[in-house]
Amino acid sequence: MLKVLFVASEAHPLIKTGGLGDVAASLPAALQAQGCDVRLLLPGYRAALERAGRAESVTQIALPQIAADVRLLESRLPGTGVKTWLADYPPAYDRAGGPYLDPLGHPWADNAERFALLARVAASIALGEAGLSWRPDVVHANDWQTGLTPVFMMDAPRRPATVFTIHNLAYQGLFDRTMLARLGLPASLWSPHSLEFHGQVSFIKGGLVYGDMLSTVSPTYAREIQTPELGFGLDGLLRHRAERMVGILNGIDVREWDPACDPRITRNYDIGRIGDKRDNKRAVQIENGLVPDPKAPLIGMVSRLVRQKGVDLALDAVPYLMQERAQIIFLGSGERDYEDALTALAARHPGRMAVRLGYDETAAHRIESGADMFLMPSRFEPCGLNQLYSLRYGTVPIVRRVGGLADTVVDASKENLHAAVATGIVFDGDSREALTAALARALTLYGDPHSWRRLMVRGMQQDFSWRASAQSYIDLYESARKLRS
Ligand code: ADP
Ligand code: GLC
Repeated sequence: MLKVLFVASEAHPLIKTGGLGDVAASLPAALQAQGCDVRLLLPGYRAALERAGRAESVTQIALPQIAADVRLLESRLPGTGVKTWLADYPPAYDRAGGPYLDPLGHPWADNAERFALLARVAASIALGEAGLSWRPDVVHANDWQTGLTPVFMMDAPRRPATVFTIHNLAYQGLFDRTMLARLGLPASLWSPHSLEFHGQVSFIKGGLVYGDMLSTVSPTYAREIQTPELGFGLDGLLRHRAERMVGILNGIDVREWDPACDPRITRNYDIGRIGDKRDNKRAVQIENGLVPDPKAPLIGMVSRLVRQKGVDLALDAVPYLMQERAQIIFLGSGERDYEDALTALAARHPGRMAVRLGYDETAAHRIESGADMFLMPSRFEPCGLNQLYSLRYGTVPIVRRVGGLADTVVDASKENLHAAVATGIVFDGDSREALTAALARALTLYGDPHSWRRLMVRGMQQDFSWRASAQSYIDLYESARKLRS
C-alpha cells in the first residue's frame, strides 16, 4: 500500500481561503479511496484545532532551534475519514486571524518561520525522526508554504520521494536573504540555482528545484508557466525541469458539491428536474435584494478579489449588463479597492446588482445553485474550481481561455453547439470589449431556451470527480519513487 504524506497549509473544512483548501481535502480522500495510505499534515491553527474537535496527541517532535516540542495532534478530516495530523505549536499558529494574513489583512510578520516549521515537521516525519512507526513512501507538498519540505530532506540518504504541486505560481513566499541563516539553512543554498530569487529567499523554489517530480493543476497551466508571460520569473527553471513536470486537472468533491442533495440550497435538483433550479434563483434574488424576476438573466461571481481574477474587467462590464436588464451578484473578499468599487457600483444599481463582502461557504453554494451564468474573467487560472462547480450546478460558465478554464469549458461556438459538446462561453483577450462580446453571446443564447437548456444539461453531464486525476497522482508518485530507486 503506497504511503503518502500530504502536506498543505489549508484543507476544507478545517481551514480554507481558496481552491487549495478544497483540493487538499478532496484529493487525499480520493487517494485513500484508491487504496493509498494517506496522512494529511496541516499547521495547528487555532481555527483548525477548534473545528477538528477531539484530537489525540500522537507524538512530540523536538526540532533544532525551536524552543519547545511540536505536538502532533491526530484527528480525522471531517467528512472524509482521512487521518489528519495538526502540527501544534502555539507560538506559531495559535492566534486570531487567517492562516496567512493578520486581522488587518497584512501577511503575518513571521510567515517564513511559521511555514518553515511546517516543512521541518513534514521532513522529520518523512525521515522517521518524529517518533512515529509510520513512514511515507512519498511526501506530497503543495505551494510555497510547503516549499522547503524537500529542502529539509535533501541530504538524507534514505529519504522518501518528493512531489511538489504548484497551485498558484504567483505566490512564491519571498523573504529577506537573512532568513536563510535564521532558518538554519546552509549558506550554499544562496544561489540562483537554489533558493535565491532576485536577492530574496524563495520558498517556492525549494519545491521547484528539489522536488523529485513536479506537477501543476491543469495541462494548459503547465505549459503557460513555462512562458515569460505567465512564468512569474520562474519560467526558465520550469522549462529546465519540464521533463519532471506534469499538469493534472483538479477534481471536485462531488458529494460536497451536488445540486441533487446539497443541504445549503433552497431546492435540490438534477438533470431530470432542471426546472427546479428556478426556485434557487428566486431565493438568491430575494435574499440579496435583487428584483425576483425569473426572466432577468442572473450572473454570479464568487471569488477572491484580486487582480488575477479579473474583478476590474467584471466591474467594467456591469454597465453593459444593466443596460441589457441582466442582474449580477458578487461574493468575495480581498483587496480593499475592489471591495469599495463593487459596493459603490452596487449602490447605483439597486435591485439589479448585489454585493456580499466576506467569506461565506453557504452563500457560495447558494449562488452556484441560483445563478444562470457564472463569470470568471481570470487573467490566469491554474485550474479554477468554481467553473467546475458551476457546470455541475447547471450554471453556465463564462470564462477566459486560460489555464484550467481553457481545459474544462467548451465554448458554445456554432460548431460545438451543433456537435452538442458546448458547455459554456470561452473568450480571448482581456479587454472590456472582449468580455462584453462574450456576455452578449451568453445573453443571446439565454434568449433561446432550447439551446440554453442543452448547454446546461451538457455541463451537468460532465464528470469532474477525482477518479481519473487521483490515478494520475498515483502514477506521478510512482515516477518519483522510481527516481529514488
Ligand atoms: P482560487 O483558489 O484561486 O481562489 P478556485 O476557483 O480554485 O480559485 O477556488 C476558489 C474556492 O474558494 C471555491 O471553493 C470558492 O467557492 C471559494 N471562495 C472564493 N471566495 C469565496 C467567498 N468569498 N466565500 C465563499 N467561498 C469562496
Ligand atoms: C489556486 C489557483 C486555482 C486552483 C487552486 C487549487 O488557488 O488559483 O486556479 O484551482 O489553487 O488547485
